Amino acid sequence: MHTIQQLSRLRGEITLKGDKSISHRAVIFAAMAQGVSTIRNCSGGADVRSTIDMFRAMGTTITQDNDLLTIAGRGYKKLRAPEVYLNAGNSGTTARLMAGVLVNQEFSSVVYGDLSLSKRPMERVTNPLREMGAMISLTDEKYLPMYITPAKALSPISHLLQVASAQVKSAILLSGLFQDGVTTIKEHEQTRNHTEKMLGLPVVEKGERRIIKVSKDYYPVAQEYIIPGDISSAAFYIALALLIPGSELTLRNVSLNPTRTAFLQVVELMGAKPEIVNAQEINGELRGDIIIRHAVLKNIEIPAVLIPNLIDEVPVLAILGSRSEGHFSIRHAKELRVKESDRINAMVTNLRACGISTEMYEDGFEFEGMQDVIPCPTFQSFDDHRIAMAFSVLSFLLKDGGKIDNLECIKISNPDFFNDLNKISG
Ligand code: S3P
Repeated sequence: MHTIQQLSRLRGEITLKGDKSISHRAVIFAAMAQGVSTIRNCSGGADVRSTIDMFRAMGTTITQDNDLLTIAGRGYKKLRAPEVYLNAGNSGTTARLMAGVLVNQEFSSVVYGDLSLSKRPMERVTNPLREMGAMISLTDEKYLPMYITPAKALSPISHLLQVASAQVKSAILLSGLFQDGVTTIKEHEQTRNHTEKMLGLPVVEKGERRIIKVSKDYYPVAQEYIIPGDISSAAFYIALALLIPGSELTLRNVSLNPTRTAFLQVVELMGAKPEIVNAQEINGELRGDIIIRHAVLKNIEIPAVLIPNLIDEVPVLAILGSRSEGHFSIRHAKELRVKESDRINAMVTNLRACGISTEMYEDGFEFEGMQDVIPCPTFQSFDDHRIAMAFSVLSFLLKDGGKIDNLECIKISNPDFFNDLNKISG
């Protein structure tokens, strides 16, 4: 059990390690390309490490020198048959995106994961990949381990995304990179678009609907990647700075991809005034510095269209909501049930445990802001990094602090969480 004490105001600046989603993609593209690529400021989290180790197990030489990752890409269909089963660890992005790569190799492979990942739905990626002709099967038709055997020839497909998931979209796009013909994906709800942006894929927007095309012409080439800081990790510091009087924080070089900034949009609607400076685009990805100051916030109705681009930030947003005036409600967020933990259940269990009366629904939860909290409550992490950090944030805000069962899992996305906080807190 870990005890977390109340924090005083946050002041100063931090530079965050690379965005997890963008880092996964940079590693995958670099390993697929022919020749040497470099990646600066790669995520230091265990999830991206799972992707790196998976490519190492398939003969890719990957070296790290401080901030610089060098990847000797093996080229089109040139990964080496692994001698071991491929371990995706806790990482849904690794398992799902790699499915799109592995079904196009000329060898068999097996992908497995930890206890949490083994409970997450995988048929959402195997179904469209099978439609392309992939030979891929799952345990109980739904879960990892995933078994892949080489298919004679895959064909391009035209696919309408059934779940608002960038992981599913990316698995299909990655597989489409191996085909001569054009694979087309339509999405009704905008999900994070790093795969399209980083590969420079043509995207046609028709109102809410987007049509993305991919073919072998866009197969990645060796290049230099510079990864912006992780905005999903930044959200925890932003929440603390907003809620602790006297705080002023600069977060340098953070991803500002518009499909990832819904959290900033919501806090702005709640009354915050985040300032963005030094914005620039590198590798197709916008980034810049965020200056954030303490503000008095009021809960708002969160627009449903923002939910897919807010999904990873819901835990910390709910903590922000619990310390703001007004009614907080998250609905249309059923996907939260199939993340690293059932995040609806995890949030509601912990909120109730500290005395915040909360209503739970299949697709979300709601409560009144500013309810009294019991002294030094005990929280459960559910072995989920974002739940552990969200309730660390709440504990930092409470006069008597709080307790949490496991902070180990924070290493999945941001092993620097507590060190960085040390640097900026009095
Ligand atoms: C991710 C997409 C999201 C997100 C996850 C990372 C990605 O998942 O929750 O943390 O890198 O594509 P879904 O695509 O399943 O919504």
